[in-house]
Amino acid sequence: MEVILEVNGERHSVVPSGRRLLAVLRDDLELLGTKLACGEGACGACAVLVDGRPVNACLLLAEAAVGHQIVTIEGLSVGRAHAVQEAFVAEDALQCGYCTPGQVVSATALLERTPAPTREQIHEAMAGNLCRCGAYPKIERAILRAAGSA
Ligand code: FES
Ligand code: FES
Repeated sequence: MEVILEVNGERHSVVPSGRRLLAVLRDDLELLGTKLACGEGACGACAVLVDGRPVNACLLLAEAAVGHQIVTIEGLSVGRAHAVQEAFVAEDALQCGYCTPGQVVSATALLERTPAPTREQIHEAMAGNLCRCGAYPKIERAILRAAGSA
């Protein structure tokens, strides 16, 4: 059955067929910035914003996203780089970059609700975003920079 998904401010007609949101974003809408890694909700590589909150798109059924505002990493950078992305670049907060879209999405959600987070609040908010390259100290600095605290 066809449904309408609102992604990055645009309405898309898709046929989820029981698939997860991540598959629809990548395979149908060709939004390849959102990554598949663990596929079981344990790493945050697939994080997207759903009504402003970070959600692991590898777990969410696409049908469940109907009626909600979905923003992917591509939607954060329409026209120019998002402030969080600029901070990640400035702090060199990535190595392979595979986890980075999810990190940026989760950091964006954090800064939306907590514009000047403490280190503890950053650790708590980012706990679901793993980085196999171990870029955590730089990621923390990037978030502090984006918040204007570094
Ligand atoms: S790929 Fe979704 S949480 Fe790891
Ligand atoms: S930069 Fe490689 S997994 Fe995070």
